[in-house]
Amino acid sequence: MTRHEIIASLRSTDARTLAALAKKAREIRDTTVGRAVHLRGLVEFSNHCRRRCTYCGISCENGTISRYRMTEDDIVRCAEIISSHGIGTIVLQSGEDPFFTAELIASIVRRIKKSTPLAVTLSLGERPVEDLRAWRDAGADRYLLRFETSDRRLFESIHPSFSPDIPCRMKQLEALADLGFEVGSGIMTGLPGQTYRSVADDLLLFRSMSIDMIGIGPYVPHPGTPLANRFLPQGIPDQVPHGPDFALKTIALTRILCPPINMPCTTALRTLDESGYVRGLASGCNVIMPNVTPLEYAERYDIYPGKKRPQNFDEALRIVEEDIARAGCYLGKGAGESQRFMERKRDACP
Ligand code: 5AD
Repeated sequence: MTRHEIIASLRSTDARTLAALAKKAREIRDTTVGRAVHLRGLVEFSNHCRRRCTYCGISCENGTISRYRMTEDDIVRCAEIISSHGIGTIVLQSGEDPFFTAELIASIVRRIKKSTPLAVTLSLGERPVEDLRAWRDAGADRYLLRFETSDRRLFESIHPSFSPDIPCRMKQLEALADLGFEVGSGIMTGLPGQTYRSVADDLLLFRSMSIDMIGIGPYVPHPGTPLANRFLPQGIPDQVPHGPDFALKTIALTRILCPPINMPCTTALRTLDESGYVRGLASGCNVIMPNVTPLEYAERYDIYPGKKRPQNFDEALRIVEEDIARAGCYLGKGAGESQRFMERKRDACP
């Protein structure tokens, strides 16, 4: 697909074209990675964050939320729960919290690796390469870092600058791949000021970079953030629409452009649309990340409002399993490595 064709598909609002895109994405998923849906147990272990991203509710500028950190023991206990439910991967996510030093995270990874067979995914934001190396050495398998948008001007306008000695996200994604991590990235769709052309460029980047998993979620305005309170840029004819439908269209196009990747049904999608998981699977997704964070903490991991929070992990799993069956898919077994990652590894050692 050319850039021009991608832009035309992104712009299309014709229901038949959209249904055809989703069908094609589904077929490509079925014939490349199959209909097995892999689960990842998500643990949001700290909502402290030193950054000021203007869209995010846990930015350090938000003085109204109550901050928490889970203990090392609590985190390892979550890992054991995930493993006992037959799920193959834990995702450890937090704000950018310097309390969790490189050594502390490495120690948590080593303990999880010792007491469970889980694949460990980290999602801790921008960190120096030495930290990433320490975590890889400790046994971490994967790292998630969305680049959010490839439009430099938009990126800079929503991410007030922080530290010049931390490499930019694109460089960090390259470093992660070089260190042997399975790499996840992604974008938000529907940001104020985001254009069709820039989303087309995001999709072309997904294709050209070493990215094994791609998460695409709709931007959900959080009333406690500067971005939600900013006037929408007027008169941008190229502004992409807000909401779940455009995110789903972007998801379908991503599967068509990058067949062997893993692609999660994002929580933001399900927040805006009760049938977000089923529709995500129908548009080419093959991963779901049920939340294992104890409710008292999950309620405070408030990156955007309206997140559905099941009472407990068993309920979260029940919802996910029903949605998977409804979408004509089935539960995957094992760690659910990305096919693109396996191909990359194979190409690296002839
Ligand atoms: N709406 C939707 N997604 C958001 N994220 C952060 N804030 C929001 C929001 N208001 C996403 C970002 C980040 C991921 C962890 O959550 O894409 O990378």
